[in-house]
Amino acid sequence: MTWGNTSGQEQDARIISHVPRARNHFSLLLVHAIILVLSMIETRHLYKTFDKFAAVENLNLAVNAGEIFAFLGPNGAGKTTTMRMLACLIAPTSGEATVAGLRVGRDDEQIRARIGILTEAPGLYEKLNAAQNLDFYARLYGLDAPTGAKQIDRYLNILGLGERRAEPVGNFSKGMKQKLSLARALLHEPQVVFLDEPTSALDPESAKVVRDFIAELKSEGRTIFLCTHNLDEADRLADRVGVFKKRLIQVDTPENLRRQLYGERVLFRVREISDAHENVLRALPFVRDVQKQDSAFSLALDDAANTTPLVVNALVHAGAAIQEVREERASLESVYLDLISSPLLEGEGAEGKV
Ligand SMILES: Nc1ncnc2c1ncn2[C@@H]1O[C@H](COP(=O)(O)OP(=O)(O)OP(=O)(O)O)[C@@H](O)[C@H]1O
Ligand SMILES: [Mg+2]
Repeated sequence: MTWGNTSGQEQDARIISHVPRARNHFSLLLVHAIILVLSMIETRHLYKTFDKFAAVENLNLAVNAGEIFAFLGPNGAGKTTTMRMLACLIAPTSGEATVAGLRVGRDDEQIRARIGILTEAPGLYEKLNAAQNLDFYARLYGLDAPTGAKQIDRYLNILGLGERRAEPVGNFSKGMKQKLSLARALLHEPQVVFLDEPTSALDPESAKVVRDFIAELKSEGRTIFLCTHNLDEADRLADRVGVFKKRLIQVDTPENLRRQLYGERVLFRVREISDAHENVLRALPFVRDVQKQDSAFSLALDDAANTTPLVVNALVHAGAAIQEVREERASLESVYLDLISSPLLEGEGAEGKV
């Protein structure tokens, strides 16, 4: 992450040194009440331009309270830039954004107290050990010593770093630093968690620990804004995904995106495939597409739940020996690749249909 000439540590210290130490419970209650009716994150006509280069254009987005929202897009799409604007690390060029009902650019201190962010740059103190790093941030977050110690233990253990807590972070691997940064982002139990590629440096086992952990954060009622290039991860975790490349291309649940782009497909495997079977299938009014494979037909069906038995009937009547019937799921990867190469990108783009 580039941000002037400041180091990661300086930035982080600057980010959270404003966190109010004593929270005003009344204002917290008020914020909770407001976000019950509003989205947890909302942007309206948000733009970010670096010199003359537009990194984010006219972003209109609403992320619901308590959901995992995956923000997907190619390298340089503007995902991290968007996240940094929402986390009050850089100022938008124009437009509006609210986080937890608070205005970016006006209520930054209060927003910072309610969010946790894992950025691309870990920004840890290499000479301090893991626990000392977290302790430093616990103090900045205004946690009292016993609470800080409890939180540090909790997150080091959850993320599998408990036994390495006394080692200087300079000795840590990239993945270990990534996990420590995640722990740091959560010490103050934020309502909204921004995670920029949280599993990018992790081995499969650690990535699973972190994924399970993200799901747990959601089950605790937090809102998660997740940038990832791991589409399988997005598919597994996200309630909704936003496909983004400078502009928002599409927002929906992974399931709806599949359905919109590919319809409902069902695979029928038969013992001996024949043209006669194919002709029978093509004659059915609810069959929208027939793809013949080695020993199976892949059909796009209207109302698949109700029409699948009718297809089975028709095949049986045509003398086919059916060996398997199963719903086919397009991968989120194929949906994503279709959307990202969409001609819409060249035109106005799809505004955040949320
Ligand atoms: N501080 C900056 N100054 C100038 N240009 C910048 C700055 N930060 C980001 N950009 C540019 O904005 C664009 C979007 O960058 P950003 O880091 O938001 O992309 P991204 O979607 O997070 O990509 P990746 O998947 O590679 O992390 C890029 O072209 C980048 O070079
Ligand atoms: Mg990025």
